[in-house]
Amino acid sequence: MSALSCWGIYRELAHSPGRETDDAEILRATAQRLEEKGFRASLKTAEEIGESREEPPAFLFVMCERLPILARLEHWRERGVCQVNSASAIRNTYRDRMLPLFEKNRVPFPASVLVPTQLPIPSEAAFRESPTGCWVKRGDVHATQTGDVVFAPEPASLGHTLAAMNARGIERAVLQEHIPGDLIKFYGVGEVDPRAQTGNGGDWFQWFYHRDQRLEGHAFSARELAAAASRAAAALGLEVFGGDAIATREGRIVVIDLNAWPSFALYREKASERIASYLAARFRGHVEVGVQE
Ligand SMILES: Nc1ncnc2c1ncn2[C@@H]1O[C@H](COP(=O)(O)OP(=O)(O)OP(=O)(O)O)[C@@H](O)[C@H]1O
Ligand SMILES: [Mg+2]
Repeated sequence: MSALSCWGIYRELAHSPGRETDDAEILRATAQRLEEKGFRASLKTAEEIGESREEPPAFLFVMCERLPILARLEHWRERGVCQVNSASAIRNTYRDRMLPLFEKNRVPFPASVLVPTQLPIPSEAAFRESPTGCWVKRGDVHATQTGDVVFAPEPASLGHTLAAMNARGIERAVLQEHIPGDLIKFYGVGEVDPRAQTGNGGDWFQWFYHRDQRLEGHAFSARELAAAASRAAAALGLEVFGGDAIATREGRIVVIDLNAWPSFALYREKASERIASYLAARFRGHVEVGVQE
């Protein structure tokens, strides 16, 4: 296999609810751009990787998220295969890991607690701190189906939601403070420099307001948003990422979610170019480091 061969790995369909096409398209667009930069890129499904005995090439760009395949990727990393995002960074987006990492790295994040979904159901007392209700999110992966992320306006619905998750075999859930404000979506590639307006080199940061909302138009600092997003991405070790943040009435930025390699749907052209530039530099740098060793 040539030195510039790489594999792109699709996200598992179960992890792309409603976004199967967009998720596949960004991986394909990135592969095409990599080809234009002199790489030979093949695309594989997570299932193909799981079943195959084929040896991987030196470089992988990865959207899959399930634990068994991440274990396989980690094994390959130990043998020198360069991967973006890394398996450990992807694993860190599972909420049980994300919470402590955000806390440790002082990412502005809503008050959150990981609880067992088993009874006893939290009582009225649990709501004293959060009288406007709270979010209930499955404790492991991001939403893969209805019922994985639910707003509980009062104790009874919190109890029902936890019980429903438990019945589905989800053992832990995150209870999270509701943050009122304008919902922002953001995308990033590489190490985002909060001082740069448009990013530098292969690095890129883009934000926009989520469509389905009544926008209040709270003032906030775009630089603070980029800084918060990059702090969050660095805390998890993500290089290609997307997430959600809230701009509050007081002008605060709160990161509420961070995902590995999102679909970049509204910015596919631009994103695929930025990601491919970043990957090309990263992969070539890996070869140079390898030669020096
Ligand atoms: N703490 C919060 N405060 C306010 N709104 C929230 C909060 N948590 C979640 N939301 C709302 O619910 C949506 C989904 O939450 P979150 O992003 O954590 O879940 P997800 O599993 O990543 O789902 P998705 O794939 O839809 O982003 C957010 O985009 C936001 O609109
Ligand atoms: Mg989200």
